[in-house]
Amino acid sequence: MNLELTETQTLIRDTARKFARERVAPQARRFDREELFAPELFKELASLGLMGVNIPAQYGGAEAGVVSYSLAMMEMAAACASTSVAMAVTNMCAELICKFGTEAQREKYVTRLTSGEAVVGSFALSEPHAGSDPRAMRTTAVRRGDKWVLNGSKQWITSGAYAGVMVVWALTGGQGNKGISAFIVEGGTKGLLIGKHEDKMGLRGSNTVGLTFEDMEIPAENLLGKEGDGFKLAMIALDGGRIGIASQACGVARAALEASVQYSKDRKAFGQPIGEFQGLRFMMANMATELQAAELLTFRAAYLKEEGKPFTREASMAKLYASEMSNRAVDKAVQIHGGYGYIDEFPVERYFRDARVQTIYEGTSEVQRLVIARETFKLLD
Ligand code: CAA
Repeated sequence: MNLELTETQTLIRDTARKFARERVAPQARRFDREELFAPELFKELASLGLMGVNIPAQYGGAEAGVVSYSLAMMEMAAACASTSVAMAVTNMCAELICKFGTEAQREKYVTRLTSGEAVVGSFALSEPHAGSDPRAMRTTAVRRGDKWVLNGSKQWITSGAYAGVMVVWALTGGQGNKGISAFIVEGGTKGLLIGKHEDKMGLRGSNTVGLTFEDMEIPAENLLGKEGDGFKLAMIALDGGRIGIASQACGVARAALEASVQYSKDRKAFGQPIGEFQGLRFMMANMATELQAAELLTFRAAYLKEEGKPFTREASMAKLYASEMSNRAVDKAVQIHGGYGYIDEFPVERYFRDARVQTIYEGTSEVQRLVIARETFKLLD
């Protein structure tokens, strides 16, 4: 594995960095405070290729690979974690449809996601009673003629009120993983009801809703992959999604470290900048070291995925370590800022709230440990 970035990776990182710093960062506080989701921003992201970084150009993607995607996510998350999660879920849906969809589905739906026509994508797997254990889902899809009819409800759906394209999971063959299928659903479909916007601790600029399907009819051809393969599709998508969240965690942690270094140079106590005190310098040394370890784990998972090699274990390791690292980093950043870390005049209180969900969504830390143990036992069998 080469640790130097390629020209393409550098270009994507720099494009994402410029946009994140100039267009996104100045609005991040307002997005958070006003719980604002700005659809037009995602159209701009799409025009830069950032809504399909690892999607072939033929379907409107940047065709720049998974390491580029990870770099772009880190840049976006350092500016605004809320924006980065909508970007992550859109990329995840586009990749899933690209990998398992028919040619007609790719042409119709992947291009809508990469072009911004769909605004964003949503990944509707979790349900009120089925989060870590998606095979316990209750939503059903019944075939009636040339339609599938869906009934049930989903919970915690990122961008659910705005997504033009969603991937939705439902039971087609009874309870259990073999009975689950995946479907492509268009936003605005009759029978798709959008629930209340969740009032969250962090990621407040990200839209999170429940969805209800009441006799929602979708065309038969919107089955994604084979009937009964839905659980596997979800697991494969989540493996990739976890690289996205690991990247997000690295981005937020980097922002927290940069803010801490800056503040500790400016703020004086006992006659000198607080950054001269060894106690604080050691905190920032730990933050910098752990951040780099998390970035390397994340790039390794991204590289393996890009090379078409198994990466389930490495994606879970990256997600586990990076999300726990970022929570340690934001906690220290608030501590370094003292009282100013606790008010919204400085961004670290937002980083603190935004990081918290990273050890929960796209698989809790406990689920990541289950996956890492399972894959490690397989390897050493
Ligand atoms: N790739 C391919 N196939 C896989 C797989 C993978 N990574 N993981 C499992 N499978 C297959 C298995 O091979 C098995 O196939 P067979 O039945 O043919 O043998 C099948 O799937 C079932 O596997 P398990 O028995 O291991 O499944 P399980 O029910 O024990 O679950 C789990 C394992 C790891 C706990 C899984 O349920 C899981 O990942 N849970 C967490 C779900 C999650 O991350 N939800 C996040 C919601 S989405 C979100 O947060 C997005 C957002 O909006 C931000």
